Amino acid sequence: MCGIVGYVGHRNALDVVMGGLRRLEYRGYDSGGVALPDPSTGRIAWAKKAGKLANLDGVLAETTMPETTTGIGHTRWATHGAPNDRNAHPHLSEDGRLAVVHNGIIENFAVLRAELEAAGHELLSETDTEVVVHLLSDELQRTPALDDAVRAVCQRLEGAFTLVFTDARQPDVVVGARRNSPLVVGRGDGENFLGSDVSAFIEFTREAVELGQDQVVAITRDSMTVTDFDGAPAETTSYHVDWDVSAAEKGGYDWFMLKEIDEQPQAVAETLLGRYGRSGRLQLDEMRLSDDELRDVDKIIIIACGTASYAGLVAKYAIEHWTRIPCEVELASEFRYRDPIIDRSTLVVAISQSGETMDTLMAIRYARQQRARVLSICNTNGSTIPRESDAVIYTHAGPEVAVASTKGFLSQIVACYLLGLYLAQVRGVKYGDEIDAIMAALEKLPAGIQRMLDEGEQVRKLAAELVDTRSVLFLGRHVGYPVALEGALKLKELAYLHAEGFAAGELKHGPIALIEDGIPVFVVVPPKARDQLQEKIVSNIQEIRARGALTIVLAEDGDDDVVPYADHLIRLPKVPTLLQPLVATVPLQIFACELAGLLGHDVDQPRNLAKSVTVE
Ligand code: M6R
Repeated sequence: MCGIVGYVGHRNALDVVMGGLRRLEYRGYDSGGVALPDPSTGRIAWAKKAGKLANLDGVLAETTMPETTTGIGHTRWATHGAPNDRNAHPHLSEDGRLAVVHNGIIENFAVLRAELEAAGHELLSETDTEVVVHLLSDELQRTPALDDAVRAVCQRLEGAFTLVFTDARQPDVVVGARRNSPLVVGRGDGENFLGSDVSAFIEFTREAVELGQDQVVAITRDSMTVTDFDGAPAETTSYHVDWDVSAAEKGGYDWFMLKEIDEQPQAVAETLLGRYGRSGRLQLDEMRLSDDELRDVDKIIIIACGTASYAGLVAKYAIEHWTRIPCEVELASEFRYRDPIIDRSTLVVAISQSGETMDTLMAIRYARQQRARVLSICNTNGSTIPRESDAVIYTHAGPEVAVASTKGFLSQIVACYLLGLYLAQVRGVKYGDEIDAIMAALEKLPAGIQRMLDEGEQVRKLAAELVDTRSVLFLGRHVGYPVALEGALKLKELAYLHAEGFAAGELKHGPIALIEDGIPVFVVVPPKARDQLQEKIVSNIQEIRARGALTIVLAEDGDDDVVPYADHLIRLPKVPTLLQPLVATVPLQIFACELAGLLGHDVDQPRNLAKSVTVE
């Protein structure tokens, strides 16, 4: 939520900042803005505009901005204050000397605002952010160096924030601060960068530095200084980004989502890569929990939000089946408010593509306070959730830019499966040859996913036929149930349609009342090897078809039982039951993406959403 860029170097700052904002726009697109310190006037030159960055481009085309080599920028997902020009960032001090951009929520802003107004400040916006720049302006009267003054201001703020400041009287430095919201540093040659994530500067450098909690960073062309809020030097971790700028670009696709759907065979292969060697043993490089600690686990709780939580629901079936450890799945936003029973023997598994989702972050902090061990499954190196976890399994799926998660979901399921098998290996509840057979099936999956992509035209045609529909249902059983939930979520967020996923067994307990003439119902049929489940769902298909539903049936090759009852039949490759979600989800993603495109929606940036939800 909100993308932030800061730059000090030798290039045209406006170009660098706008380039960074374009790659961060997926984080929020309610408004965009830039601020450049202009030493010739002692004031900030700025431009901002509500709406997508294209609107800001329009403003910049009409504005003369100074040629500076320092600048900051912002793309907004609105929390406090409507998404209009006035509330767009940057926010400036009254004398025009200072500018700030912010991601997060200043929880005590009302008190601070009242204090500032009583002292005679005039605040122009409805945002929580604006108080910060006025506090800084006052602080600079007492504390002249920008970084010192920022530290003093941070001591007064409550809530979650990444803040980045520029000062027209100290134009050679940009200062950032973070608490609970992301900020990374990019180290270049004679230039340094700040960004909400590395895509802000990936075009110029792949050398990055993670900042810790409650830290302030000051960058100049040639230096980076990091301290805590008290000014004590702070430790940081440097890392090399293992993907390049082409991964963060559309590469000829109309939408990032289409590219990311197509990248799924590769993403799954990358998640598996190097984790199961010739030794016949699984190796998880950042599994910092010892075998003894893993043998001690008597309960697993998976916490996540949205699509990641559905990956967790899929994983529950496999983990319990393979390890016999009880496994619960819980929405991160609910977890810490219900007094869950956890202790040192509980393994909390946090799944997050971005590694920054605030609900998940708060949940893992709570779990660790209760002494649980936390393992995260994450796609974003250097992000907060893995940093605050006892162990991590990175998915290595490459950057996911489209707001709707696709390759993130598939790679999360695979990473969870690696965890389940690793636990089974450590605890000795699966023979080596059993693990080997599952790994062999997993390694064949990229080909199965590729087949679903190759056969996507059938689904695209179906989307065209159903373009006028207003309501779509999804049914599944066992691991097909979370697939149904995921299919419905994709359709809601992209096509803005009423869509619901149900466990097919629940049909008769209420949802069947929704069935009316012509309503499209996708049904994920378990492999025939699960004969009881397969038979039961075939009955469900008959029941809904008899009541007028248009049935769109996803069934494996050779399952002919479904043929008489399928208005549309989407064939899936034969895979073991637990792996079916990895192929069955793909046509549902293609369907939602295609339908949204046909409806004229912005597929990558659906309304009201943002990629990383960094507020609770
Ligand atoms: O970055 P995370 O995996 O923690 O994000 C969790 C959800 O916000 C995310 O999966 C969301 O539901 C997606 N927009 C779904 O496509």
